[in-house]
Amino acid sequence: MEMEEPSGGESRWSRLAPSLPVRNVQALAACAEELTAATLERYIRLDIHNDEVLDEQSGEVPVIDLARLLHPDSVEEEAARLRLACEDWGFFQLVNHGIQEDIITNIRSDIQKFFHLPLEMKNAYSQRPGDIQGYGQSFVVSESQTLDWADMFAILAQPPQARDMRYWPTQPHTFRKYIEDYSSELMKVAHFVVTFIAKTLNVDLELMRDKYVSQVFRMNYYPPCMSMPEKVLGFSPHSDASFLTLLLEVNSVAGLQIKRHNKWIPVKPNPKALLVNVGDFLEIMSNGKYKSIEHRVTINPNQERLTISAFHIPSLDGIISPVTGSTEEMILYKTVAVEEYAKLYMSNKLDGKRAFGSCEVVLI
Ligand code: OGA
Ligand code: NI
Repeated sequence: MEMEEPSGGESRWSRLAPSLPVRNVQALAACAEELTAATLERYIRLDIHNDEVLDEQSGEVPVIDLARLLHPDSVEEEAARLRLACEDWGFFQLVNHGIQEDIITNIRSDIQKFFHLPLEMKNAYSQRPGDIQGYGQSFVVSESQTLDWADMFAILAQPPQARDMRYWPTQPHTFRKYIEDYSSELMKVAHFVVTFIAKTLNVDLELMRDKYVSQVFRMNYYPPCMSMPEKVLGFSPHSDASFLTLLLEVNSVAGLQIKRHNKWIPVKPNPKALLVNVGDFLEIMSNGKYKSIEHRVTINPNQERLTISAFHIPSLDGIISPVTGSTEEMILYKTVAVEEYAKLYMSNKLDGKRAFGSCEVVLI
């Protein structure tokens, strides 16, 4: 019998992300004797103290109500707000997303339990060289690069036939089920949001039909950093190599900042919402009408922060190009192969939107 390659391309995902191994930050942060100037030096940023950071009140990320999008009486009005949120902010808090509360509570609880397991148990799920999945860290390409103050754990959740179960934790014992429940509910939410985004753009986003979409989870653990929280970052400035990212702020500790008009704006966690943002592939497909916005994560002196991002990505063998409503519109982005861009993105250090520059058409 012939063996089919999993349609999501398990082996392709496992060759996507070369990253050098780094030490575990959670263990480092927990060990007072280890926190010497010499070890901390690899995390210190010399270039962030002058960054302008606004206070939370100076602008709040728009709130979009999925229940209002799904109701015929309010859909037009809410879709107009969605368009504005995507055009003007690239980020929005999605409320009334319809995912049952116990599914969210369960995933919140098991992610916290997972990261609090002893290191040896988590290391059973360590990244294998080149693989986008696993426990560790991504985007480390040189021994001299400044490191993020965080650990992450990534798994490919959809499509189901592309899963690599070696990375699916059996501890806590409910984790596999809770990830599965959350993943399938989130696919439905993403489906609706993509459908309404297509409506606001008045285009058919064919490559974002359910049968093509992959969903990658990235669970992030940001330990507190008591000695110098303002000198480190949990996540370097970047935009997401997704179509759409849906973030759950697991324990509602603040830390995410988004870049708006060249200043950083802290996002206040909303426990009832999923934070949605435009990714690089949506920027291309919308021909720049919707921009994928740079964001970063800051560190708290006393509290750990946990999140789970869900990247919704067109199939790795897909080809993305700007979809325009009219022939007069100037095309601003190149046609890119999803896998090629993902490789480029994953094999570089994160640096704002630098990797994305290769997708832009140079206007003469
Ligand atoms: C990401 C990301 C933000 C956060 O995973 O791409 O930006 O708050 N996460 O963890
Ligand atoms: Ni991100």
